[in-house]
Amino acid sequence: MTTRGSFGSQLGVILASAGSAIGLGNIWRFPTEVGRGGGAAFILIYLCFILLLAMPVMLCEFIIGRSGRSNAIGAFRRLAPGKPWIVAGIMGVLGGFLVLSFYSVVAGWTLHYTIASATGQLQGKEGTDFGAIFTAFVSDPWQPIIYLAAFLLLTHLVVERGIERGIEHYSKLMMPLLLVITIFLAGFSLTMPGAAEGIRFLLQPNLNEVTPGVVLGAMGQAFFSLSVGIGCLVTYSSYFSEETRLVKSAVNVCLIDTMVAVISGFIIFPTVFSVGINPDAGPGLVFITLPNVFLLTFSEMPFIGYLFSLLFYTLLLLAALTSSISMHEICTAFISEHFSQSRRKAATIVTIISLVLGSACSLSFGPWQNVTVLGHGFFDLFDFTVTKFLMPLGGLMMTLFVGWYLDRKLVEQQLTNGGSVSVRLLCLLMVLIRWVAPAGILIIFLNELFPIFI
Ligand code: PFF
Repeated sequence: MTTRGSFGSQLGVILASAGSAIGLGNIWRFPTEVGRGGGAAFILIYLCFILLLAMPVMLCEFIIGRSGRSNAIGAFRRLAPGKPWIVAGIMGVLGGFLVLSFYSVVAGWTLHYTIASATGQLQGKEGTDFGAIFTAFVSDPWQPIIYLAAFLLLTHLVVERGIERGIEHYSKLMMPLLLVITIFLAGFSLTMPGAAEGIRFLLQPNLNEVTPGVVLGAMGQAFFSLSVGIGCLVTYSSYFSEETRLVKSAVNVCLIDTMVAVISGFIIFPTVFSVGINPDAGPGLVFITLPNVFLLTFSEMPFIGYLFSLLFYTLLLLAALTSSISMHEICTAFISEHFSQSRRKAATIVTIISLVLGSACSLSFGPWQNVTVLGHGFFDLFDFTVTKFLMPLGGLMMTLFVGWYLDRKLVEQQLTNGGSVSVRLLCLLMVLIRWVAPAGILIIFLNELFPIFI
């Protein structure tokens, strides 16, 4: 049996959990979804789902993790021995491997773009080149895999060092830097000519654009962005101390994550509108549209363009790394505890498996483009399985587990730290956990299975 680590401070708890939450989902996926979902209207719906669905699931994960004091599977085994609830934990560890694999592919692209912007390779190009450059890079059989491996190695080196010396220490270094760069870039992009149109897009809701698809997209985004539903926060909270205030921590993490997502919108849309590009540019927004925007906007001031793109990709890389370590930890904690392996050995196994699975995802943009399972290439298959299936189903099971299976006294004890912290609106929280969140999640999930329902 290996000894379990723990977070050394409350600040470490918040920064590590916020680090898991803030990632490509905020800076890459959120603006894309906002662009497609009609701007402010999408944001309003998203905020409701954070509050009503994703935050209650986060609290459930915290309760399960801290009372179970084990990895995602071990916690269910301890709290409900011999019961089928363990399936939620198994789906979590499986989801951890899948999400780490496909996420690290995009993180590898980010690493490549960070190096390319640092070495000035993004400068002096024609605007139209960026689409071709991106396609040539991602469809190359080797290059993206090398960057994937390099990114996984960075993740590995942090996780291997353990909770306090690894995850907490690096979160405390990377998160403040990430927040400073975010605010600096937003301030900068708001001063650009034509930025007002981007701000209007973000602040003026156009309710005509709201379709059922936009509503469902907002729910999926809320889950992905807060890292809930696959036991990531069960694992992290198993390292929380008895003094950690669960409700306060959850509220803080949700606030920081949402702030960064919205501020990312304030970085991207004023910039995109200032050069008159359509905001609905899809997932290529960050790797094709933005380098183009940097080039057009700063053609007279190449150094500012250089600095802006370098800071932007560094921000994206830091965000990806603080999230990937949390995905890696779901799997490392399980292998280390379940098979009684040292952390170093467990982390190595996880890195190797993720490299193999991630390579399959990477190849699905190039030589394996035509290799499909159930009609999806590997990247899409993993993405789809995690975000559309494992996360909602895992979230649903966790709210039912905490709301209906666990002893109510134990739940309240966890929320109030044994009665020493008064939690206002405790009854309301319980209503969210028992009724509102499971019902809402069930609706998304049924719609994924039978799209005719909505
Ligand atoms: N929340 C992360 C993001 O927004 O990029 C993604 C994520 C992290 C998903 C950890 C799942 C997870 F377990």
